[in-house]
Amino acid sequence: MPRGEPFKIKMVEPIRLIPREEREAAIRRAGYNIFALRSSEVYIDLLTDSGTGAMSQEQWAAMMRGDEAYAGAASYFRLRETVEAITGYPYVLPTHQGRGAERVVLPNLITRPGMYVLSNMFFDTTRAHVQLAGGRPVDLVVPEAADTETEYPFKGNMDLNRLEAFIQEHGRENIACIVMTVTNNSAGGQPVSMANIRATGEIARRYGIPLLFDAARYAENCWFIKQREPGYADKSPREIAREMFSYGDGMMMSAKKDGLVNIGGLVAFRDQELYEKVGGLLVPYEGFLTYGGLAGRDMEAMAVGLMEALDADYLAHRVGQVEYLGRLLRDAGVPIQWPVGGHAVFVDAKKFLPHIPPEQFPGHALTIETYIEGGVRGVEVGSLMIGRDPETGKQLPSPFEFMRLAIPRRVYTSRHMEDVAETLIRVYQRREKVRGVRFTYEPKVLRHFTARFEFVD
Ligand code: F0G
Repeated sequence: MPRGEPFKIKMVEPIRLIPREEREAAIRRAGYNIFALRSSEVYIDLLTDSGTGAMSQEQWAAMMRGDEAYAGAASYFRLRETVEAITGYPYVLPTHQGRGAERVVLPNLITRPGMYVLSNMFFDTTRAHVQLAGGRPVDLVVPEAADTETEYPFKGNMDLNRLEAFIQEHGRENIACIVMTVTNNSAGGQPVSMANIRATGEIARRYGIPLLFDAARYAENCWFIKQREPGYADKSPREIAREMFSYGDGMMMSAKKDGLVNIGGLVAFRDQELYEKVGGLLVPYEGFLTYGGLAGRDMEAMAVGLMEALDADYLAHRVGQVEYLGRLLRDAGVPIQWPVGGHAVFVDAKKFLPHIPPEQFPGHALTIETYIEGGVRGVEVGSLMIGRDPETGKQLPSPFEFMRLAIPRRVYTSRHMEDVAETLIRVYQRREKVRGVRFTYEPKVLRHFTARFEFVD
């Protein structure tokens, strides 16, 4: 058992497990797509940890002093001071969420069509914004990430040899920037070590390529560094964050994760030049430089949330709760990405359902069954999400077939985690009977959000 939650509950939101027949009817009506369920049909919602966290009393209190001035709001300056204190980057722009940040940053770096953007691994919206700006995204995660059973502490790391070989082969003038995603969401919420970040920073500097962080879950990454990397046990998460950001030139962030807010994003840079260029796109797309698509009160909540997410007690519980769920499942023989990541347990559907081939989407089949079994909503991260090659129309090979169970921050208790584990263990006991799925409707772009399915007999 993890320690008790480091908070007590002041306001409650009722949740209810609807009867099994109603769950079966709901998922049928949804075309077997969990995105088409109503949240009232879900008991424990682990679709995402993004924007689903609970704010603290300090955040709610801070919202009351939101300054709603169009330009130069006091709330912006409070946010800017906080971001600079954490990152060391003085040039700060708010955005409406992470993809807003990607939208205004990437086109300023991808200055010619066909330029490469290198990453340990892109999240799907970041990948899409690289492509929309005419760039080519390249994932260079270490091979350990693909093996869900190896006990490797930093499966999110950049493969440094492949990074340098790629730069030498394609020429640094053809590389727009390097994006370091912390933690590495797509590989299972896996952390990146400080040594790896430092070495990536050295390579970036040597070749004159900007290094940006995709910092959505940077605080959880700092916690893993503290726990697992020699020399960091006695450092605070904040000190670790400051060192981490010192190796880069800037960051894009979805504050809906480690900003502990329901909406919001950030961009921050070390230098004025990039800030000014990005500001040029921010105004037409997001909003003026000092609000970027947010209300003053949103920026107040974010400034407080960013600091709360670096609190050691908070992080110990947060990462501990995710690990607790992971251990319950692993102890029962359920195959998961191991060690457990920072924000989610990634169930290995390839191993869970070996009789279902990738083209019948084992991760999605498992997601449907888990909903029917216990009203728990996870999401597929695998062949369904990765989709087709836009040029050839062929299904892209996916390195993983996962069902992700993402845990919202400060929302569910450990007892809920036990409910989730019990649900999944029951599905595991009848796994041979779980069937694959095929499309009855397949949209052209971002198909996983709106596709419909039927079971394969
Ligand atoms: N980067 C990473 C690593 C993310 O995980 C996300 C969002 C984004 C950028 C985009 O941020 O949603 O605020 O626009 N991830 C969510 C998820 C949606 O469920 O993993 P956003």
